Amino acid sequence: MKVTKAVIPVAGLGTRMLPATKSIPKEMLPIVDKPLIQYVVNEAVQAGIKDVIFVTHSSKNAIENHFDRSFELESTLEKRVKRQQLAEIRAICPKNITIMHVRQGEARGLAHAISKARELVRGEPFAVILPDVLIDDYSCNPLKDNLKEMISRFEENGRTQIMVEKVARESVSSYGIIDFAANAVAEKTDENGRAIYAQGSFLPVSNLVEKPAVEDAPSDYAIVGRYVLSDNIWDYLEYTPLGAGDEIQLTDTLKLLLRENEIEAYVLKGKSMDCGSKLGYIEAFINYSMHDPRYADELKKYVEKLLKL
Ligand code: G1P
Repeated sequence: MKVTKAVIPVAGLGTRMLPATKSIPKEMLPIVDKPLIQYVVNEAVQAGIKDVIFVTHSSKNAIENHFDRSFELESTLEKRVKRQQLAEIRAICPKNITIMHVRQGEARGLAHAISKARELVRGEPFAVILPDVLIDDYSCNPLKDNLKEMISRFEENGRTQIMVEKVARESVSSYGIIDFAANAVAEKTDENGRAIYAQGSFLPVSNLVEKPAVEDAPSDYAIVGRYVLSDNIWDYLEYTPLGAGDEIQLTDTLKLLLRENEIEAYVLKGKSMDCGSKLGYIEAFINYSMHDPRYADELKKYVEKLLKL
């Protein structure tokens, strides 16, 4: 069955990014000249998604407004003959894409957020995209087909797909960590003798743990915020108990699902950028700016000058 829907949870209060996020949704923070959420929606659209479902909160109206038409702004730009800006504003939400919203009244975790989208997803498989994580790093980059590949794989074999990436051993407690099944073959080992799996490969999963202590982590491979789920996920969402941080965790739902179904890990090609932390956000801003042909040359000169000081 075709995957044409994506659920994007945006109800979180962004406490890790305070004070910037006191009255601005964290998803509206800019990277170069576009809000984070626009990169994520672009990624979904490029992967073939037609319906985007935001699971949102009363404080997040700016996201809804960003993807809506603004007649006042458009007519002002028209009068001033600002054609390029006008085209850019109109392209924010492509015409064949439907944006929908549903509220998550209380913050009870990622699995709880996803369960709110049930009526809008209506018995179809769907992608889940966490907006803190950017993986389509710069425009015109071949890495942008990561989500598309996961969707194609799901459409071929119907197995739940999760995107994973190797992380530093000391940071495993910030992520959902997976274990690969015994028949998953590693490509090589790192300097500590730990397995490295080939980027772009699909490998069977045997376990998942949300935010484990370093000593309990079954591997160094973290879930990085992209999932393709089949419509039987709803049964397991309903029975997922409270987990790490006293929240209902999607990782725990997937662990329940794994008892009766197969899950495949897709090893991300390239690198993700976690914009949910201040340092990660600053790094992403620099990375995107340095790859933007409009600013790259001037910026490089400026950074070189700064580094000499
Ligand atoms: C969520 C998921 C976690 C995943 C992480 C990064 O955690 O629960 O499994 O590894 O996103 O995509 P959060 O960052 O919301 O605490």
